[in-house]
Amino acid sequence: MASPSEAAAGSDGEAQAVFRGITDDVSRVALEPSPAPEVTVIEKLATWQSRHSKIPFEMFDLARDADEARRMDKLRHIYHRGQDLAWDGRAVLAELIATHGGIRVAPEHAGAVARVFEIILWGELAAWKISAELARELVPLEARMAATAQAHDEARHFYVMYDYLRALGYTPTRIDPYSQRVLDLTLGARSLVHKLLGMQLMLETIALTIFAEVRESRVEPVLSDLLRYYEKDEARHVGLGTQFLPTLMKQQTPLEAAETMLFQLRLVFWATASLKAMEADLHTLGIAAPRLIERGKRIQGRAYGEMWQQLGGEPPSSEWINRFLSGVDAAVFPGVGVAVDLPGRLRRFVDGVRAPLPT
Ligand SMILES: [Fe+2]
Ligand SMILES: [Fe+2]
Repeated sequence: MASPSEAAAGSDGEAQAVFRGITDDVSRVALEPSPAPEVTVIEKLATWQSRHSKIPFEMFDLARDADEARRMDKLRHIYHRGQDLAWDGRAVLAELIATHGGIRVAPEHAGAVARVFEIILWGELAAWKISAELARELVPLEARMAATAQAHDEARHFYVMYDYLRALGYTPTRIDPYSQRVLDLTLGARSLVHKLLGMQLMLETIALTIFAEVRESRVEPVLSDLLRYYEKDEARHVGLGTQFLPTLMKQQTPLEAAETMLFQLRLVFWATASLKAMEADLHTLGIAAPRLIERGKRIQGRAYGEMWQQLGGEPPSSEWINRFLSGVDAAVFPGVGVAVDLPGRLRRFVDGVRAPLPT
């Protein structure tokens, strides 16, 4: 039989006859019942073992409403922004040190800068670990992309902060037990909601607040300029929390929601103790704890507000929790060196609860 190419070279009639012959052959083959495939033992073994795959093949099957699709778009954008704005930590730090003629810090500020930013250093490591865990565990593609971009940023934040502290003449060792508790509590969270709430919404916003205050204080020009780079990155990381948490929180049972509330309260308790431990150093740098708390609440309030909006509004319990926490902050932070007795602290608590919430 002529090959199709030979047929194409001949007359039209000849070519059609040849092609008819070929299609006849094909349909005969297709109509003939194919022999039952022989399932080998190895095939059965592979199928059985693949029941519990670590590859989330269902990741593209997830149904999305319009709101969720929009949030997923934002998460994808977070990844691409992370790639576009990635900065070379070695080059930036070297350039800033050269521009400012070295690290210049007043001797009375050096210890406070080192101690506060050692807490930040270990916080960056915790953020790196958590974002890497999220990149492994989150199923939707866009959320996984955003977490992966964050892990890349946090690695840079960690090594640059270490290099900065070394250039400051400080060798990191350990941090106070309260700040360590905050980080360990977040690192030890078993639920994805707790990890995201703890790191992306609470710790990232606390870090953003400290960065803004220290940057504005200009106690050390290299650090002030370096923190601008950190702040841009951290703002994207908060975005991962606000855009993805609603997806997870909508799936929570009432019991899980209550556990989440309890987790947040535990974290706030230790974060308050950590801030109390840092208070004297912040005061040395010209940063008053109540002002820092006020600013932190505004930043955190915006992040939570964005999340509540996706969840259909802020729950009524949220306002009372915030009022209670304002009372605690007022009682715990009367000011450095200000002696207040127990009735005085109680009065401060009540006034704090009654005070209007920051907007
Ligand atoms: Fe960071
Ligand atoms: Fe971060």
